[in-house]
Amino acid sequence: MKPILLKNQFNPEAYKVESYVAGGGYESLKKAFTMKPDDIIQLVKDSGLRGRGGAGFPTGLKWSFIPKDPTMQKYLACNADEGEPGTFKDRGIINNDPHLLIEGMTIASFAFGASVSYIYIRGEFVFGARRLEAAIAEAYEKGFLGENIMGSGFSHDMYVHCGAGAYICGEETALIDSLEGRRGTPRIKPPFPAIEGLNSKPTVINNVETLSTVPSIIKNGAKWFAGIGPEKCPGPKIYGVSGHVQKPGLYELPMGTPIREIIFNHAGGIKGGTFKAAIPGGITAPMLVEKDLDTRMDFDSLAAKQSMLGSGGVIVMNNSTCMVKVALITNRFFSHESCGKCTPCREGTTWITQILKRMEDGEGRPGDTAEIERLCGMIFGRTFCPLGDGATMAIRGNLAHFRDEFIYHEEHGRCKV
Ligand SMILES: Cc1cc2nc3c(=O)[nH]c(=O)nc-3n(C[C@H](O)[C@H](O)[C@H](O)COP(=O)(O)O)c2cc1C
Ligand code: SF4
Repeated sequence: MKPILLKNQFNPEAYKVESYVAGGGYESLKKAFTMKPDDIIQLVKDSGLRGRGGAGFPTGLKWSFIPKDPTMQKYLACNADEGEPGTFKDRGIINNDPHLLIEGMTIASFAFGASVSYIYIRGEFVFGARRLEAAIAEAYEKGFLGENIMGSGFSHDMYVHCGAGAYICGEETALIDSLEGRRGTPRIKPPFPAIEGLNSKPTVINNVETLSTVPSIIKNGAKWFAGIGPEKCPGPKIYGVSGHVQKPGLYELPMGTPIREIIFNHAGGIKGGTFKAAIPGGITAPMLVEKDLDTRMDFDSLAAKQSMLGSGGVIVMNNSTCMVKVALITNRFFSHESCGKCTPCREGTTWITQILKRMEDGEGRPGDTAEIERLCGMIFGRTFCPLGDGATMAIRGNLAHFRDEFIYHEEHGRCKV
């Protein structure tokens, strides 16, 4: 597939507005201004674009929830937190092609009437934040942002807001809290952000990749987009491959490419051993094993395998990997990042980490694995936001395939691998 989102990845000048414009950049924005805002929303609906931030919610439908009242203040917030371990696709766009995101955000804002947008970027991404700020300044200078853009009558302001590196601030309502200057913790839903979001005004929150996909839909049409990949979740998708592979990196492929093809054809196959398991969509997504390698990497195919596409960050593990250690590393992350608002998540992930730590240190006790399973049962479905569920999904997904390794740690005080 000819790259769409990553087409400028190897052009060292692409981040500059002149280079972006020379490659046809901001033509989609120009075209969008010839359309009615509602027609843009319908086009995005017809394309079948589903959000690339993890949940796969239909993007056009989300935009259509924003009230139509033109006197009402509305916002767009771009989620550039990218905190899920194993995920590094959004920073590829931000660092190398920032105008693609700015163009997509301006089109989206025009479609549902947002006069202000924010890019919420995690604090550690200093390079990306500076690059975005420079690109936004260029866009103002060239008249792609600000008052009466391209003589369309539409005015729009865009800001970069740096977070402080908390994973929970990628959750959309915690992100809003953080944008408002508060400590980021998830809010109860409803009201959903489309009705009561930033500053209690209607707000759309979309992922970087989602918004960067919009200019190509405007340019090529809904039919073109819907023709790439599976009918129910079409389009190009960036897969980030890391771990035990020969060629880790970002690969833009049709949504629904089998994971086998991604790992073995594009990422060059396994490094340092044979294939053991892969986490398909950031560490929350339950693992796939050898028998699952023909699974297509899209929202529905992975859900059918009791896993999820999430961010599309594929973490590959070879046969030298200790799965108890994997469980410890992932669970320690969740307990560290738990915002502490609800007890099952805060206490449960901490207890599980303590048990896994002693198992990994050779001090496991009989019944430890069963205790972890019991604690997962106490957390799942009992937490305020999906972080708690996600923590249990990761560990349950691991136990579903490698329970014997956990029992071996319990019984022998060491690793089987
Ligand atoms: C704990 C947690 C962390 C999240 N982190 C991110 C993130 O870093 N980036 C992101 O786009 N979405 C993240 N999400 C999903 C967002 O809440 C939201 O669904 C998404 O930004 C919507 O964008 P989309 O419709 O374009 O997919 C996270 C969700 C949870 C529960
Ligand atoms: S599930 Fe965890 S992260 Fe989410 S609100 Fe509860 S304590 Fe916070």
